[in-house]
Amino acid sequence: MGLNNQKILVLIIFGTIYSIFMWTFAPGVKDDHLHISNINDKFYANYLDTFRQQHYNMLSNLINKANKALKNDSVYSVTLKPQLAPSNDPHDYMSLARYFWPDPNKPDGLPYMRKDGYSNPEIETIKDYSLLRKLFDDVENLGFAYYFTRNDSYVEKAVYRIKEWFINPKTRMNPNLNYASFIKGQDLGRRTGIIDMRPIYRMLQSIPLMRSSRKWDHSVEKKFKIWLSKYYFWLEKTSIGIDEKESTNNHGTYYDVQAIYLLSYLGREEEARKYSYEALINRVNEGILPTGQQPHETKRPTSWYYSTFNLQALFLLAERSQYFGFDGWNYVGPEGQSIRKAVDYLLSFALSNGKGWPFKNINGFEMNNFVKLLELAFVIWPDDKYLEALVILRPKAKLEQALEYKDTEWEDNYLCIWSLMTNRQLWTCLK
Ligand SMILES: *[C@@H]1O[C@H](CO)[C@@H](O)[C@H](O)[C@H]1NC(C)=O
Ligand SMILES: *[C@@H]1O[C@H](CO)[C@@H](O)[C@H](O)[C@H]1NC(C)=O
Repeated sequence: MGLNNQKILVLIIFGTIYSIFMWTFAPGVKDDHLHISNINDKFYANYLDTFRQQHYNMLSNLINKANKALKNDSVYSVTLKPQLAPSNDPHDYMSLARYFWPDPNKPDGLPYMRKDGYSNPEIETIKDYSLLRKLFDDVENLGFAYYFTRNDSYVEKAVYRIKEWFINPKTRMNPNLNYASFIKGQDLGRRTGIIDMRPIYRMLQSIPLMRSSRKWDHSVEKKFKIWLSKYYFWLEKTSIGIDEKESTNNHGTYYDVQAIYLLSYLGREEEARKYSYEALINRVNEGILPTGQQPHETKRPTSWYYSTFNLQALFLLAERSQYFGFDGWNYVGPEGQSIRKAVDYLLSFALSNGKGWPFKNINGFEMNNFVKLLELAFVIWPDDKYLEALVILRPKAKLEQALEYKDTEWEDNYLCIWSLMTNRQLWTCLK
């Protein structure tokens, strides 16, 4: 490859600005209007092309989803579930532990027992989890749709959803996860249920985009912040919260991500800054081996999935640490561990279709999530090898999307890449 890294980045940024410009001012313009001279690198040309396409797709998908969110009149509330948590308080959130099944040796099956890696479909009978995730998605999409269209209806709906979930006396959720990842037959939920709240950052980062709208309700936001402060207190002080923070695998990493975004949103910037780099250092040192293997994930039966899943959280931590002035992307631990090594470790197996992966792995080698990481990796470390790998792996990811992951969102990843390259205002990715 003839292009040096800096030049590649400059070209990416140029390409992005160009495609945004074209979209804004000349929506009908076709590809042949884009002539950037001096590019004879086929991988890079392909990259730019894909990228431009992603911008179009991102906008149309985003507006579609926001319109769906706008039109949806169902109630989103924890109070709808057919079965109460042991507290008997309908406002307590409850979700069922994913990998737990009735004990065949007990007449009533209670308490349920663990079969790691095998999801029990019974978890779908209690909707709190899926509604919570829907709330995060909807508010996020509404916020970003407002950002791109300046249509106030989106903001009005987002405010409505926030009020409904967090504030209205009839429908609100209590600010705790005491019964998340609940095992039937026990008294309390488990620390691992805290991961239910994981994508809250997606909602939190879209809220500031809506504040300029005349439909944004500052008194609602004030009450929402009180809710979040109480929830953060719960997260920080209860034994469920403390145990989750201390877990060494993806649960601990995602706890940190959640905590940093909450602190930041609550205006506790100094705490967020300190938390972000301490967490980054700790998770890289403890969660990655000098080879790049993530040992706490590779011991799970779905070892490939959890390796990419934890890496996503590490990317979020790295991005946050960089935002607060610490270069977590390139931090190297005392034994040579780093996030980049974790990427490269997985990359070699991705390219061999998982051949030689030395761990138990019952769910195959799903590429879609890894490819998203790789697209970001190229932005962070503009190395030709990532670009070449993307040419090979992207079609596999696309095929997976077509076959099984219908909801997978590339437009999302586009926003994520874009925000990494620009001002990070739109950072949103890695669901
Ligand atoms: C509205 O959202 C709820 C909760 O996710 C979902 O069950 C329902 O199908 C949605 N309705 C429409 C019309 O999309
Ligand atoms: C805002 O979006 C809604 C839903 O798509 C649409 O009905 C309405 O006309 C839009 N308003 C403006 C001012 O464009």
